[in-house]
Amino acid sequence: MRVLIVGGGGREHVLAWKLAQSPLLDKLYCAPGNAGISAVAECIDIAADNIEVLNKWAVESQIDLTVVGPEGPLVGGIADSFRRSGLKVFGPDRKGALLEGSKVWSKRKMRQWGIPTGEFTVFDDFDDARRHLARFYGEPVVIKADGLAAGKGVTVASGPAEAEQALYDIMIERVFGDAGKRVIIENCLRGEEVSVLAITDGRNFVTLPAAQDHKVIGDGDKGPNTGGMGAYSPAPIYTAELARRTGELVFQPLLKGFNDSGIDFRGVIYAGLMVSKNQFNVLEFNVRFGDPETQAIIPRMQSDLLPLLLAAAEGDLKDIRLEWSDHSAVCVVFSSGGYPGRYTTGHVIDGLDALAEVKDDHVAVFHAGTAIKDGRIVTAGGRVLGVTAWDSDLRKALQRVYRAAEQIKFEGMYYRHDIARRALTKP
Ligand code: GLY
Repeated sequence: MRVLIVGGGGREHVLAWKLAQSPLLDKLYCAPGNAGISAVAECIDIAADNIEVLNKWAVESQIDLTVVGPEGPLVGGIADSFRRSGLKVFGPDRKGALLEGSKVWSKRKMRQWGIPTGEFTVFDDFDDARRHLARFYGEPVVIKADGLAAGKGVTVASGPAEAEQALYDIMIERVFGDAGKRVIIENCLRGEEVSVLAITDGRNFVTLPAAQDHKVIGDGDKGPNTGGMGAYSPAPIYTAELARRTGELVFQPLLKGFNDSGIDFRGVIYAGLMVSKNQFNVLEFNVRFGDPETQAIIPRMQSDLLPLLLAAAEGDLKDIRLEWSDHSAVCVVFSSGGYPGRYTTGHVIDGLDALAEVKDDHVAVFHAGTAIKDGRIVTAGGRVLGVTAWDSDLRKALQRVYRAAEQIKFEGMYYRHDIARRALTKP
């Protein structure tokens, strides 16, 4: 099979790494890819959101399956466009992608379809929204920009001044552009966040093992939110009973709602859950694989990924069974100094060859923001790369991942030193 992956981050690298191991694969392409992906796929210089050019290229290149990584092209209608051209795509149509593309649409559908989620109010006027903040009497409050904001559109404000500032930045300063035309204000739910991914053909679904992300930049969860600084899988807090109830109360009603609304959802649904005392609420949905969660989940997958994604794209998942290793996996993300604020790029990354020479088949490096310059791998983004290690238990996986992490060096480099520590305290 000839497969195209759209995107060029750590998520796309781990998908490419796994698909490249499939005996069913003849040729793997990635558009635009990155320096790491170019080791396992041919990178095509077309931006992920250039839907028309990608479509033409995929038709001419006789691509059998396209796997869309990021949410942007899905919200832009890449799946609709490719399907009109007779191409098979792993990814929802534009209407299904609203589940991530509009937080207001998503929350209203959760309410309509009976999916457990926190109470919320929607505002498109700054003054009304500001007055509403008074109802929280100084308690923490969550403010969400409606549209896509590169994972940074949610503020958890600990008090009124912070809440008002966030509202001002989103609605008046428009720091996230038009994504801030409308906001959601909701109570701050307490507990632990878990990411649960379900692959679906629109009717059937199969869930992947849960993972926990570390969204905040600093050790001890201090500082601003990022796209995700590390992840581990499995997540001990996500019990078999919670998994059963998530299927029953989240994925089944969601798929029924999609079908009743004529939405063609063939792809992955990412449910961000807040779990507390064995109860849960859905915080948000995404319509793509979580990043870095996928970097901690996929290395544990023993089954071939290609038939799974193909079956979902073809609308026939019901005979798919997946096998997973019992290993724990931990991914530590390396970012450019200053991220998620301003940072510089173009710094040479040392240590990748030394790490490869160790030939540890329980360690993998997945590139996110990297490029090749004068024959050397350099930084090219905020999140630069992720190192994942897996082992028979979490403690061993942690030792392995941080030992590997010590090899990598670049100017301004930053990574968290406490990824997965909280899971060690769980029975
Ligand atoms: N790690 C969070 C996300 O993928 O949205």
